[in-house]
Amino acid sequence: MATANTMEKPFFLTSIGKKYLMGLTGLVWSGFVLGHMAGNLLMFYSADAYNKYGHAITSGAMIYAIETVLVLCLITHVVCAISLTLENRAARGHQRYAMTPNGSKGATLASRTMAIQGSVILAFVILHIATFKYGTYYETTVDGVVMRDLHRLLIEVFQQPGYVVWYLIALVFLGFHLSHGVGSLFQSFGLKNNANEKLIQRLGWAYGLIVAAGFLAQPIYCFVRGA
Ligand code: HEM
Repeated sequence: MATANTMEKPFFLTSIGKKYLMGLTGLVWSGFVLGHMAGNLLMFYSADAYNKYGHAITSGAMIYAIETVLVLCLITHVVCAISLTLENRAARGHQRYAMTPNGSKGATLASRTMAIQGSVILAFVILHIATFKYGTYYETTVDGVVMRDLHRLLIEVFQQPGYVVWYLIALVFLGFHLSHGVGSLFQSFGLKNNANEKLIQRLGWAYGLIVAAGFLAQPIYCFVRGA
């Protein structure tokens, strides 16, 4: 007779299912951060170009769809991470080498600190949205269109050393999280093997480095540039 223990769980509630969900939701956020970082590079071109870009992406209905997907992915990613971490902690009582939420044998510093990195990044995202999305609303007119002057807010925020230091710390964490996340993603989807392990690791480092460096340049530029 089947007992509660032997009944099959839905796939996405199993450990491997949660790893899949973490991989998929992580992939969505990885794509978002790359796009966000690249779009933000317009600040180096001109204030008008940056504001026009911000206005274009936030004035259509599409932004609500993007926000909904991002929020759902973030919640799923965090819930799965907490659940897998708790499962691993419990398993560690029984076996010496418990699997990390990323599917690897928790050896490297990057993999062992994924939960800490994730917590810092989550705190960063919440504060970041409060600072910019819900921050002071300045207005400007570009090509006869009245729009939000986000560029002015950026310069104002990144004139404050405390913000700049916090961004630098959080973005370094983001770089490590992305670097390791790429490897975990390939591992979760069974695409990592001995032959491509090194390549995937390099890909992860390159991705984390490009995103982190692109973002890091922004507060540094605003701070150095001045008002
Ligand atoms: C130096 C780095 C960054 C700068 C200068 C920056 C700038 C901005 C600005 C100006 C906005 C407001 C957009 C608007 O309301 O029109 C924004 C929104 C946002 N940023 Fe960033 N960002 C940075 C890094 C990041 C990172 C690393 C993440 C994620 C890990 C992130 C996630 C978001 C999210 C989720 C939103 C809200 C999008 C929305 O719902 O409209 N940002 N960012």
